[in-house]
Amino acid sequence: MPTDAPSRGRLRAASPEAIAEGAALLRAGALVGVPTETVYGLGADATSAEAVHGIFVAKGRPADNPLIVHLADPADLARVVARVSPLAAELAARHWPGPLTLVLDAAEDLPSVTTGGHPTVGVRVPDHPVARALLATADTPMAAPSANRSGRPSPTRAEHVLADLGEHVALVLDGGPSAVGVESTVVDARGTRPVVLREGAVSREALDAADAEPHAAAPGSRYRHYAPGCEVRLVAPDDLPATVARLAATGRRVGAIAPSALLPAGLAAATAAEDPVALAHLLYDALRTAETRGVDVVVVATVAEEGIGRAVMDRLRRAAAG
Ligand code: TXA
Ligand code: MG
Repeated sequence: MPTDAPSRGRLRAASPEAIAEGAALLRAGALVGVPTETVYGLGADATSAEAVHGIFVAKGRPADNPLIVHLADPADLARVVARVSPLAAELAARHWPGPLTLVLDAAEDLPSVTTGGHPTVGVRVPDHPVARALLATADTPMAAPSANRSGRPSPTRAEHVLADLGEHVALVLDGGPSAVGVESTVVDARGTRPVVLREGAVSREALDAADAEPHAAAPGSRYRHYAPGCEVRLVAPDDLPATVARLAATGRRVGAIAPSALLPAGLAAATAAEDPVALAHLLYDALRTAETRGVDVVVVATVAEEGIGRAVMDRLRRAAAG
């Protein structure tokens, strides 16, 4: 038995004192788990190459996958980008604070480790009181990817952060379950029309976005993603009960995520989601729960690809491919 257990990060309810401690830790170059409206982030001082490097080590993240920089206030945008396009100014005015990440030309002094070596940077102002208080107190831009080990489902509860990254994070601020549950929409805002690089919490309908070209995808979408330690299978809602029955008959432990009317009794893990917004909210937690319960295969009822349903289906397909 090892004599030294790995040092575990601490979880603290996000009181003003805990936020002050988190801000001091950020300024000292440590990693802090931060609640946002989308998912929990793994925050580091975006202006410190050394601190940001720690994010890549903790997550096991490919070095060419750039990080999103979070700001306390839209007025801070000029601290991290070289130029604010008219389109970016308009989108920021309409959607910030909120789950929209704008990709713009990066400021020259931003460490290249933060941008994954790209000339651009993704930036957003989160709509969460704890994240914004932390950013305002630390008074520095914060690089923060989702606080999961690379390839795993994103964390929507403080406990998920500790489970994946407890040995790397100094402190996790507990702000309760994430309200939205899927990540921000990433948009290239350098041109005259927004180009969606990653589907997310702000729908295409709300953005009036140009259709994404086949090559227009965030670098992160090249990698395996969102996959729990069990198989994920997508089925049309009508086919869910029969699919579950067939899998259970083979002796496997089966879980399901679907509207309650479709959920069979006796599952190893059953999560009811009545609509796409509810599914977005609980999806990652449900996948992690299925994994914890030793489920072999979790069957998920698909939703229509409109509104937030687009982001949900994008994540589900990737989870199923993992
Ligand atoms: O909601 C969110 O966006 C959460 C919370 C914590 O803010 N963050 C998040 O970060 O999802 P992450 O690192 O898990 O995903 C960031 C995505 C990746 O697919 C990455 O490739 C893309 O954004 N991205 C970041 N900077 C980019 C850039 N300069 N150009 C293109 N894509 C970029
Ligand atoms: Mg992520």
